[in-house]
Amino acid sequence: MAYETLIVDIEDHIALIKLNRPDAMNALNSQLLGELSKALKAVEQNDKVRVIVLTGSDKAFAAGADIKEMSTKTFVEAFTDNLFGDEADQILKCRKPIIAAVAGYALGGGCELAMMCDFIIAADTAKFGQPEINLGTVAGIGGTQRLTRFVGKSKSMDMHLTGRFMTAEEAERSGLVSRVVPAKKLMDEAMGAAAKIAEKSALTAMAVKEAVNRSYETTLREGLLFERRLFHALFATEDQKEGMAAFLEKREAQFRDK
Ligand code: HXC
Repeated sequence: MAYETLIVDIEDHIALIKLNRPDAMNALNSQLLGELSKALKAVEQNDKVRVIVLTGSDKAFAAGADIKEMSTKTFVEAFTDNLFGDEADQILKCRKPIIAAVAGYALGGGCELAMMCDFIIAADTAKFGQPEINLGTVAGIGGTQRLTRFVGKSKSMDMHLTGRFMTAEEAERSGLVSRVVPAKKLMDEAMGAAAKIAEKSALTAMAVKEAVNRSYETTLREGLLFERRLFHALFATEDQKEGMAAFLEKREAQFRDK
């Protein structure tokens, strides 16, 4: 499928999706978000794809929602069209692992988009922020909720209330990103992590994603029960038998996603 605001490459079981609005710092307009929803749906349905890497440019992962496009919207339009809501839901529906590879600005909706991925690998040039307050608004696709869970209330309030940017180093220290690497090595690192995940059972990876995400959405007691039952259920899979047999026979596992 051809996209105008994305570049999608599929190779070796990895779908690399690059946000591509260079003239606007990859600002998220309705076209880009619509295409991203479609692309994620397509890679989700593509059996060859086992993992997704979402990235932007050297300058910007994404500098937020497109301010030009949304500046004159009325409440009625935003509410009736469920502005950004359907696209956000579509991203969250994706059951395959998504790694965000972030260089440069990840601001507002860009920071929120990165946080909707399963983990973030950042270049040392990355800058994260929720500067919506400067525009007289607030985050709209999860910033106040997810950033708070990642970095705690104090730092989240600081980011949302002052609109300041966080460096990659601070983001790693606070638990927002999993790794920071020199900018030149960002894509190697992200593709390397994706290749590692692609070696695993896609079925088990899906279960991991579901269980970890559950920890954000339920009580500890319910989350633990969910995890325990999932652990029990995976004994019904061929991949569990293969994984444990391979360990005992001191060989590489050959997973078949069954
Ligand atoms: C539309 C944007 C944009 C945005 C940058 N551009 N961010 N256009 N929406 N969010 C455009 C600029 O207008 C400019 O276009 C070009 O990209 C380059 O940007 P500059 O500002 O000239 O570059 P620079 O001086 O390097 O500053 C980079 C920047 C700054 C720090 C990222 O652009 C900036 O502060 N952008 C806005 C960040 C922001 O407030 N994000 C939150 C948006 S609200 P021209 O045509 O002039 O060259 C939001 C709500 C989320 O995200 C709701 C749910 C999705």
